[in-house]
Amino acid sequence: MSRLRIFDAAAPDAPLFDSRDGDAIARELQAIGVTFERWQAAQPVAAGASQDEVIAAYKADIDRISAERGFKSVDVISIAPDNPKREELRAKFLDEHFHKEDEVRFFVDGSGLFTLHVEGKVYEIECVKDDLIGVPDGVTHWFDMGPEPRFVAIRFFEQPDGWIGHFTGSDIAQKFPRYEPGSR
Ligand SMILES: [Fe+2]
Repeated sequence: MSRLRIFDAAAPDAPLFDSRDGDAIARELQAIGVTFERWQAAQPVAAGASQDEVIAAYKADIDRISAERGFKSVDVISIAPDNPKREELRAKFLDEHFHKEDEVRFFVDGSGLFTLHVEGKVYEIECVKDDLIGVPDGVTHWFDMGPEPRFVAIRFFEQPDGWIGHFTGSDIAQKFPRYEPGSR
């Protein structure tokens, strides 16, 4: 289930806020300029669906958010627990970074943990099936897909290289919980 926890950046052991309520999550994130929505497929998406079938199932929402935010393209990323590159893929965005365009992801299936560092607070968001998250450009964050990653997500792009991570060199991500889906 989707979950938001908010911490003081200096106190990773004591969440100030903890909710699994979609409306409450959206409200707290909206206050820092982060979009959180829950979408419904227009038609069922079968396991093993092609990229085109996944995109077709969410076309109305994809078109809406692309028009609102200026996205030019989308793709579908799918990572399974037996992916031979899972450790390498997981490690890629585990440290604090930002991008020069919005990072917008819609979880068609599975889950992942986005953690944002904004003005002395840390916002830890567990995204699951049907969740859309929109992290504005320049917002520092990290992403953990967990040790046995399992998700299918639609990614939105303005520029072909817009998703490149600019790392801050901070070790803050190592002080906060890593993603262990089974324990949550
Ligand atoms: Fe990122």
